[in-house]
Amino acid sequence: MRSLFPVTDQTPARGPEGRGRAAPADDRAPGRGDDRAPGRGGDRAPDRGDDRAHGRGGEPAPAPADDREWSLDELADRYAYPETDRPVLRANMVSTLDGAAMHDGRSQPISCPTDMRIFGTLRGLADAVVVGAETVRQEGYRPARARDAFAERRAAAGQGPAPAIAVISASLDLDFSLPLFTEPLVPTLLLTGAAASAERRAAAEKAGARVLIAGEGRTVEPGQVVDVLAEQGLKRLLTEGGPTLLGQFVAADVLDELCLTVSPMLAAGDARRIAGGPRMTLPERFSLASVLEEDGFLFTRYRRP
Ligand SMILES: NC(=O)c1ccc[n+]([C@@H]2O[C@H](COP(=O)([O-])OP(=O)(O)OC[C@H]3O[C@@H](n4cnc5c(N)ncnc54)[C@H](OP(=O)(O)O)[C@@H]3O)[C@@H](O)[C@H]2O)c1
Repeated sequence: MRSLFPVTDQTPARGPEGRGRAAPADDRAPGRGDDRAPGRGGDRAPDRGDDRAHGRGGEPAPAPADDREWSLDELADRYAYPETDRPVLRANMVSTLDGAAMHDGRSQPISCPTDMRIFGTLRGLADAVVVGAETVRQEGYRPARARDAFAERRAAAGQGPAPAIAVISASLDLDFSLPLFTEPLVPTLLLTGAAASAERRAAAEKAGARVLIAGEGRTVEPGQVVDVLAEQGLKRLLTEGGPTLLGQFVAADVLDELCLTVSPMLAAGDARRIAGGPRMTLPERFSLASVLEEDGFLFTRYRRP
């Protein structure tokens, strides 16, 4: 992994000697949507060192000194939330080169192990993970787990051991017998409208979830989500989509930051983009804050100016 932006004095440095500091094996990140499963894409990405270590004629090729696996601590430093009292909503999504946000209904085929490390790091920094019910259903969401790598940092920031998962749903048509509802370290939150089914709300609460109202009708007002969670003391917010939910946050103008993984893949077909729904009157411009690269994947971070 190397930093392409901001450019540091290490970015153009040469020589393979700077490589090799690896994170502890037990700090490998979980799968997207499943904090315990293996990373998306199955096995670890092929060891990229070999085809960069030698030039065409068998000569050692220059390698950036910073091109090594970053520890979770370094990633957490890079992705730290801004120090502010106001709530911050960050999104983390992955897209192919041609804009597909999923393949065969899941994001795992377009991800990679490093994407999963960053996914896990972003969770490790968040107070709450906000996710649409369809992503929970499609990706088999499990509760977020407490990870040693972030324990000290979380305690110092006054955070619990793991982020709460906050599911946005109108129908509340979710399987409340799943571990997401019955076994979380911190109760899973369900955000819905005031007119949502009383029966389904009762079922959710019986399973251990906390129901929060963030809209007057059946649906949630996307603009209210941040305020309702902030009232619960949850201000470092991370949304993991999906596109239906993210599009609403964009349209409501409440998204502060987008951590977008650009996957070096082409998928064609009719897969959706990372944000759907009605288009903006004018596209909103974000500012580039950071770009990391590994194995052809770009890990970008854009902020509202
Ligand atoms: N590329 C990526 O990074 C990424 C990230 C996440 C997901 N994905 C993929 O995206 C797909 C799922 O995304 P999606 O766009 O179909 O669904 P989604 O945004 O995850 O969830 C949509 C559901 O959320 C609930 N919802 C959304 N807005 C609501 C509102 N304003 N009020 C109340 N409920 C609301 C509704 O649930 P109810 O139906 O329960 O009412 C709705 O059906 C999956 O294939 C997943 O793999 C990709």
